[in-house]
Amino acid sequence: MIRVLGIETSCDETAASVVALAGDSKPEILSNVVLSQIEEHAAFGGVVPEIAARAHVEALDGIIEAALADSGMALSDIDAVAATAGPGLVGGLIVGLMTAKAIAAATGKPLIAVNHLEGHALTARLTDGLAFPYLLLLVSGGHTQIVAVRGVGDYQRWATTIDDALGEAFDKTAKMLGLPYPGGPNVEKAAAAGDATRFAFPRPMKGSAQPDFSFSGLKTAVRQAAEAISPLSDQDVADICASFQAAVADALGDRVARALARFRETFPDMAAPALVVAGGVAANRTIKDRLQALCAEAGFNFVAPPMKLCTDNAAMIAWAGIERIGAGMADENGFDFVPRSRWPLDGISAPMVGSGRRGAKA
Ligand code: KG4
Ligand code: ZN
Repeated sequence: MIRVLGIETSCDETAASVVALAGDSKPEILSNVVLSQIEEHAAFGGVVPEIAARAHVEALDGIIEAALADSGMALSDIDAVAATAGPGLVGGLIVGLMTAKAIAAATGKPLIAVNHLEGHALTARLTDGLAFPYLLLLVSGGHTQIVAVRGVGDYQRWATTIDDALGEAFDKTAKMLGLPYPGGPNVEKAAAAGDATRFAFPRPMKGSAQPDFSFSGLKTAVRQAAEAISPLSDQDVADICASFQAAVADALGDRVARALARFRETFPDMAAPALVVAGGVAANRTIKDRLQALCAEAGFNFVAPPMKLCTDNAAMIAWAGIERIGAGMADENGFDFVPRSRWPLDGISAPMVGSGRRGAKA
């Protein structure tokens, strides 16, 4: 039996969790505590790094205590401490990693520094027991990536955004239209009453041989359309949101279809390959429906873990720690590891200009 305490502080969620694995049985999430700072950042329309770091300092001890209490475990029952060490906002990373190191030092347990993106990448194994390899689409406020997940520590980034992350595009669109932060859910809500055909927004990168994403041109088109008909009625806002969402679904669908085809070529012998989605944008029904339809067409299983494990949480970090222990890789990023605001998952992909980082939200 392995029990790992996970800590996540890379952006605006302060989170701690205990995950256990006994032999070959299913892993068990013994606790999963997430404190969102959304309200503290809402007035600014986005995450403010200094506010985030301060809020992590104030909340983290209590969140860890709550996660231990919920799990019924004492620190002495824990086998290792896993903490997000990057990528993300460095203030928050320092708070989480240093707290984890303090616990590790005081208890004599090993420390495992975890890449936040690896947490997202391995979640489908925690929730669905998925076997390697599979394809991951990560669409959050800070990242928009397609990753071939081949094994623990074995990731290939096949596509990333060359400018804005998709969640960021939703948030900026919402802000332009006077909708509250976080924008994604509010854009989706407004779009429900809108006409998706009223505005012919661009479908960035559609048809391009280059695998990457781009959303900044779409954002500009939305701004120009809004300015041209301002002041906006509620119906105008709804129509812009619906048209924006339709453009996003088309653009994303085009990119993902390419990646599914590439996955088929790369792993021709797999009977039932899988596409996994992660990140807050995966909550969007229009986007989810599009991805599901694409998967059905291409013969892929569509795996969407429960939303609270798709967005930032510490269970995925604890689980990544367990996976690293299982793969004999727990010592790779240990006690001496320092936080890295930039930390590409595959270690080889060239950084992209912008690379979809709003602050550093993943
Ligand atoms: O994964 P997440 O909770 O946090 C990180 O970025 O790590 O993702 C948050 C992002 C925000 O940009 C938010 O606007 C977007 O996900 N989002 C949505 C929806 N719900 C959240 N975007 C589109 N439709 C939604 N329903
Ligand atoms: Zn994330």
